[in-house]
Parts: sequence; structure tokens; C-alpha cells
Amino acid sequence: MKLTYYGHSAFQIETKGTTLLFDPFITGNAHTDGVVTPGDLDPDVILLTHAHGDHWGDTLEIAARSGALLVANFEITSYARRHGHKNVQPLNTGGSWRFDWGTVTQTYARHSSSFPDGTYGGNPNGYLLFLEGICIYNAGDTCPFAEMAWIGEDHEVDLALLPIGDCFTMGPEDSIRAARMVKPALAIPVHYDTFPPIEVDTARWSGMMAEAGFEARVLAPGETLER
Ligand code: NI
Ligand code: MN
Repeated sequence: MKLTYYGHSAFQIETKGTTLLFDPFITGNAHTDGVVTPGDLDPDVILLTHAHGDHWGDTLEIAARSGALLVANFEITSYARRHGHKNVQPLNTGGSWRFDWGTVTQTYARHSSSFPDGTYGGNPNGYLLFLEGICIYNAGDTCPFAEMAWIGEDHEVDLALLPIGDCFTMGPEDSIRAARMVKPALAIPVHYDTFPPIEVDTARWSGMMAEAGFEARVLAPGETLER
């Protein structure tokens, strides 16, 4: 599988001919300048962690053009349906769904969730993805929470995408606490450097991860990782 990072919490996974797009905040995401436009993206599936504008982003435009299946919590898929996109798969925290390309579990995330227009967006989530024998944990916007240890106990996590920007999510120090619970083979930072309040020294973060015994990799916007 190929994972391409678009900055903030937006990334794409290509697996055996299926393209999964997470939290497609492209318009207004400075990381995507010169890297990708909404029109460049043609996913089969869009998965959302929550409804905040920096995650919902260009979902409706990309979904309408591509016809992608939207996977998100019930409130978000209902909102999308009301706005004309009917191809949805609602989930809720703890629920899994088996697709022909892999299995998705919505995990808990401790945050909030509302649409840019103020509509309630349900509870925020993270995702566990199981595809090609690989387990990927996308934490979503969250602080560390004690049950992250269950994820580390129950699964051999190959990749963990952890927010590190602080202010709205966990910061660098807390992401080490999260890694100690999830025990990923590789930690990838997300949700940083997009706006001044979430600027992070990623070299310092990488050093902290290494000191804690974890492999970490900072992906530049547009960079692809293969597993
Ligand atoms: Ni958020
Ligand atoms: Mn966010």
C-alpha cells in the first residue's frame, strides 16, 4: 500500500486499486499549495474523523465529483445525505465494517465535532484500518486516553498517525505517551504547522520519539510512504 500525506490530517492510501482519502482539507490548507488541489483527487472512499472544517474540508466537492463512498459517523453521513451525497456508510465508535479492500474500525477520540455552519457533528473518532495484512491507526484529533493501551494490546500496529500540534489536540510530549500505549512500528506526525498555534519543532519531536524507543518519520506534504 502507498500512503501519501497532504499536510494537516489529510492523507491518501492506495491499496490494490482502491483509493482511500482521509480528512480532505485541501482548500485553505497551506501545506497543499503546489502539492494537490481538490480537483486532482479521485478517491473511491472518503473517511472522516470528525466534522471540523480542517477535516471536513472539501469533502462535498470531492464526493460529488468522484461518487466516493463516505465513511464517517452517523451525524456526518446524515449531513452529507442532506447535502445531496447519498453514497455513505455510517459507523459509530467501536463499530467495524468489512469492505472488499479491508476492514475499518471507528475508535474513540477525545475532542469535539461540529460542522463549519455550527451543525452538531456527532462524536469525534479515530480509525483502525486493516488492509494487506497491515494495521494502521489514525488517531484523529484527540489527547491521549487510557484506552489507547487496549489498541496496543489487541493489535500489532504498523503505522500510527498521531497529532502533535498541541492547542487543539495532544502535543509532542503527549504523543510520546500515546506511542507508549499504541506501540506502533512507525509513528507519523499529523495536525501541525498548518496555523501559528500548532507550529511544532518536528526535529525535536523525532528526537523525543527516538529517545522513547520509537521509530518516527516526518512526511513532507506530497511525500509517499510504501509498505
Ligand atoms: Ni478538530
Ligand atoms: Mn483539527
